[in-house]
Amino acid sequence: MNVKKDFPIFEAHPELIYLDSGATSLKPQPVIDAIVEYYSTYSANIHRGLYKISEKASAEYEETRSVVARFINAPSPDEVIFTHGTTESINLVASTLGPERVTEGDEIVTTVMEHHANFVPWQQLAFNTGADFKVIDINDHFELSVVEKSDRRGEGHQLVIDLKRVITNKTKILAITLVSNTLGTINPVKEIIAEAKKINPRIITVVDAAQAAPHNVIDVQDLECDFLAFSGHKMLGPTGVGVLWGRKQLLDSMPPYQFGGDMINEVSLEKTTYAKTPHKFEAGTPHIAGVIGLKAAITYLQQIGLDKIRNHEKELTMYAGRWLNDELSDAITFYGPRHIEFMAGIITFTMKGIHPHDIAQILDEQHIAVRAGHHCAMPLHTQLDIPASTRASFYLYNSEEDVEKLVEGLKKVKKTFS
Ligand SMILES: Cc1ncc(COP(=O)(O)O)c(C=O)c1O
Repeated sequence: MNVKKDFPIFEAHPELIYLDSGATSLKPQPVIDAIVEYYSTYSANIHRGLYKISEKASAEYEETRSVVARFINAPSPDEVIFTHGTTESINLVASTLGPERVTEGDEIVTTVMEHHANFVPWQQLAFNTGADFKVIDINDHFELSVVEKSDRRGEGHQLVIDLKRVITNKTKILAITLVSNTLGTINPVKEIIAEAKKINPRIITVVDAAQAAPHNVIDVQDLECDFLAFSGHKMLGPTGVGVLWGRKQLLDSMPPYQFGGDMINEVSLEKTTYAKTPHKFEAGTPHIAGVIGLKAAITYLQQIGLDKIRNHEKELTMYAGRWLNDELSDAITFYGPRHIEFMAGIITFTMKGIHPHDIAQILDEQHIAVRAGHHCAMPLHTQLDIPASTRASFYLYNSEEDVEKLVEGLKKVKKTFS
């Protein structure tokens, strides 16, 4: 995939091997241009100005809502809310819908592989309401333990999901990630939601798509989820902008998240009435440049094609798996599924007797950027019985040469500590 030329950071750092897209992606020139164009030619506030540059800013901002809606196959742009990112999107749902729906004795279900952004808000909601907080575990194939491992392998086998052990008619919320940011596991979220709704048709399902939206086609109608969240910065867009999609009926029934300008209909001394969805949830001046940059990012991704990107990442992940196994299998322990269909472009590992921070530092000396730590997934690391791990994550600008450099770099790490 010949796209490196579109990413100016490689001109500034020609030697950079960037393997940390799971944390944030690099930005292509069209995204940078869209942001610069806004700030240099029409940097007005939106929705208020009765003059041309404000009208243009408003039109670009609202057009992004439609672009996002089409990107995730949402029935209406009115169901798309702009936030700061996945974290804020999930907090918005937990703090508005949460207290209205969840009471003492209810249950909230999530999984042990969640990023803290889809774990802590639900844990705190459970603590604050007296609900039971239940966590789905993983099996020894690093998949959710509701999925029988053998049934996901051989051809013709059915997916077996035994959710009845965790979901009951008291479960009010199921919060689940499409892709684990640490294990790279792609969860069968559509099947899990369908099964959960069979057990309890009133359950509210919240999907964390932060690691999925940059790489996979997402269709909220096909998933049949109730809410879905993702971040612009992980999908070539700017930092500080994200999306919450929710079913219109649910969004309409929820109270506002924050109060202030732009989210009201009328304010008097006696009372305030609110704007309609989605504006009800967008108080204050939003990240206008960020939203406009997100549109450019989605357009760029769609021009290349998400299927092509996913295939490229699959090839790189398999290539990395083979090389690492061939060259370093005695020194490395992998944490993630082995079947490529259930793996995102993420390889997480530990090396015997070497702290992940040391690995990252020695790789950095060779201009290789990886992530080391708990990746905001402490419950998962506790479950894996490791304090930290090292993660290499691939995106469209990575190449086989990057993988080869990573393997060489890790051989150097091993040699340094032997
Ligand atoms: C799976 C997952 N969920 C949520 C988040 C939080 O995203 P943000 O920091 O952009 O809000 C991340 C970020 O790493 C993530 O990987």
